[in-house]
Amino acid sequence: MSEPLDTAPILLPPTSLTPHPQNDAIYVGSTSDLDLHESIRREGILEPLVATSSNVLLSGHRRLRVALDLELETVPVRRIDPKSAEEEVNLLVAFNTQRKKTATEIYHEALVLKPYYAARAAERQAEGRRAGAAARHGKSTPDLQPRRRMIDELAAAIGIKREMLRRILRIHEAIEGQTAPQRILDELNEGRLSVHEAYRRVRRCQRLARRRESMERALESTDFNYEDQLDIQPFDVWEFRRRDNDFHDIAMDEDVIIEGSYGSPPAQLIAHALAYWTKPGDMVVDPMAGRGQVESVARAMRRRAVSFDLVPRADFVAEHDAMKGPPPECPPADLVFLDPPYGLTHEYSKDPRDLSRCVSEDAWLGAVLDIARRWMTVIKPGGRMVVLIGSEYRRNGDQMMDRAWAVGRGLETLGRIERRIQVPYATSMFDPRRTAHAIENRWMLSRIRELFAIVSRDSSS
Ligand SMILES: C[S@@+](CC[C@H](N)C(=O)[O-])C[C@H]1O[C@@H](n2cnc3c(N)ncnc32)[C@H](O)[C@@H]1O
Repeated sequence: MSEPLDTAPILLPPTSLTPHPQNDAIYVGSTSDLDLHESIRREGILEPLVATSSNVLLSGHRRLRVALDLELETVPVRRIDPKSAEEEVNLLVAFNTQRKKTATEIYHEALVLKPYYAARAAERQAEGRRAGAAARHGKSTPDLQPRRRMIDELAAAIGIKREMLRRILRIHEAIEGQTAPQRILDELNEGRLSVHEAYRRVRRCQRLARRRESMERALESTDFNYEDQLDIQPFDVWEFRRRDNDFHDIAMDEDVIIEGSYGSPPAQLIAHALAYWTKPGDMVVDPMAGRGQVESVARAMRRRAVSFDLVPRADFVAEHDAMKGPPPECPPADLVFLDPPYGLTHEYSKDPRDLSRCVSEDAWLGAVLDIARRWMTVIKPGGRMVVLIGSEYRRNGDQMMDRAWAVGRGLETLGRIERRIQVPYATSMFDPRRTAHAIENRWMLSRIRELFAIVSRDSSS
């Protein structure tokens, strides 16, 4: 590498210096110049800038900006003369190793350096091949360069660990290939996510995108019907070993993927309800559809469906407050699938009309029953409503309330309860942190969901 031409800095007018053409393309972060401005105004430029003999800046772009701004007459500059374009960009990057860089700046550094290191890796490979051929012909092999990987060299030049660079590259490739949302990168660059966490999220989005793609292909195929794959449980306890969210994975938007736990029931649970109480071509209505798992499963079982939610999480879910009852465009239903927030444990939105924000358990119970009563009106004769409730005990004033029991008793006043199905969620479906918290506090989490199937009183069946 080149040595500085003059060890002692020289003084040059700042206007005579040119920023390096690649500097702005690499270092896009919005580091504020304010602090530097203040210190240069008080103490002058203590650390000399570095420039080539043709006055192209290699280090000190922020200092130069401030110097121009303060209209300084001269700035101290050390000269260095790179022998090649490769050495020049290497120096530009090397002078920035101490800088606090964003992931995108590191990515840009790698992009600028990569062609040189790739060429060197190709040279090493060719050399290896020649040595191999020579050895096969009994000739002595010249001393080979030690085997090094391009990514190791790039990481060393940038001044970070190889794994960190590999992850930063993968994150950017995913965003560019649109297999992960831009938001992850924004949060990473703003320092709200670590590289590790951003990478984990990107990988998760990519896995889900692959699954979504294969589900979409399955749905497009004319002979795919999810009902054929169901292991129908002929009991009034439906036990599923895993959450099985393939269908909401094809429906949901990325926000939901990232938030993780959200509250969609397992696809098999919905499929069982549809298999027992509807037939192909029937209309399913979901007044509190969230990310639309019910409609997705219905479509995969050749039923028709319409979905509403106060805060829709899939583009086919229409915005509507369930408390107002069915909107005029809601078609007559063979099945209304009601999956309200299970009380006040998980807040779905900040909207005051959101049931998960009710002021008390009593208010929540009243709202669920009111919604059930209003949506009964769209059910065709012979049709049903199913209501899914988490069977939890909650404090209600000075008493404990069994939510499922209370809802069941209320539903009895609206129609005839035809079935009460118990659905124990597998322990693996629970967040380990919640389970640990429950063990510590001697609190019992409820594994049971209860599904009530109700036939309206004026139905002929
Ligand atoms: C248990 S989640 C439903 C999950 C849904 N089955 C799915 O597959 O994603 C309860 C839903 O009720 C919605 N919700 C709460 N209050 C509402 C209201 N007043 N009107 C309509 N939807 C409401 C929430 O936004 C949330 O999406």
